[in-house]
Amino acid sequence: MAITADGKIATANRRVSTFGSARDLEHLYGLRATADAILCGARTVELNRTTLGAGGEKFQRLRARRGLAKNALRLVVSGSGSISPKAHIFTTHFAPLIVLTTKRAAKAKLCRLAKLADLVCVGGRTRVDWPSVLRWLRGHFNVRRLLVEGGGELNGELFRLGLVDELHLTVCPKIAGGRNAPTIADGEGALTLAEAGRFELKRMKRAGDEMFLVYRRKPDA
Ligand SMILES: NC(=O)c1ccc[n+]([C@@H]2O[C@H](COP(=O)([O-])OP(=O)(O)OC[C@H]3O[C@@H](n4cnc5c(N)ncnc54)[C@H](OP(=O)(O)O)[C@@H]3O)[C@@H](O)[C@H]2O)c1
Repeated sequence: MAITADGKIATANRRVSTFGSARDLEHLYGLRATADAILCGARTVELNRTTLGAGGEKFQRLRARRGLAKNALRLVVSGSGSISPKAHIFTTHFAPLIVLTTKRAAKAKLCRLAKLADLVCVGGRTRVDWPSVLRWLRGHFNVRRLLVEGGGELNGELFRLGLVDELHLTVCPKIAGGRNAPTIADGEGALTLAEAGRFELKRMKRAGDEMFLVYRRKPDA
């Protein structure tokens, strides 16, 4: 995730979320080149022209050297099935695209999604049940490393469930402000420090005015 120096992942109206440098984009592609699958929330996919692609031949060669498919498996979560059919990602077909949804999605929406994606996976009553999804991805697609690219609501739930092993943060020299601007972990959040996710700083690197940080979940957390 790229954050502003005041910890926001987008402006308060959610329209602007690309504020990292070209180096940060390379860094993102580098991370994608380590992943079996990539996951995004519905709002992120609607608001951006993201394709979740590898980022070009250089990164595809890197993937090949690591024994990975040319492109990662692409996953989008929309529990209500209300993701816009006009999202740019649905116009791209270079790699399988799976929409994860729930039983609360109306039949008409599921039918519409089935025409847009390769597979629609319905699980959980109102929210996607992440532990089951991770087991399913491992069992059916041999997914061992899943890269989650936000947004805040999706991340927040994964942090709360203790399912995040590693956090890659790029701190960018901007101040977005705005009490409603999203952060890397939104949703309900922890109410006590004991419930807060515990991480340790594993690596940090300054490049220009950006800081690249890697946190790992504390082994006992
Ligand atoms: N700076 C960065 O690095 C970065 C990266 C990514 C995104 N962003 C920005 O973050 C903002 C979007 O973040 P966001 O928090 O508003 O939205 P989000 O996390 O992208 O998407 C939230 C939606 O995903 C679905 N969802 C998430 N978790 C679910 C679960 N467990 N079960 C069922 N459905 C689930 C729901 O879709 P339905 O409502 O359809 O059910 C929910 O409304 C955008 O501005 C985006 O550009 C910034």
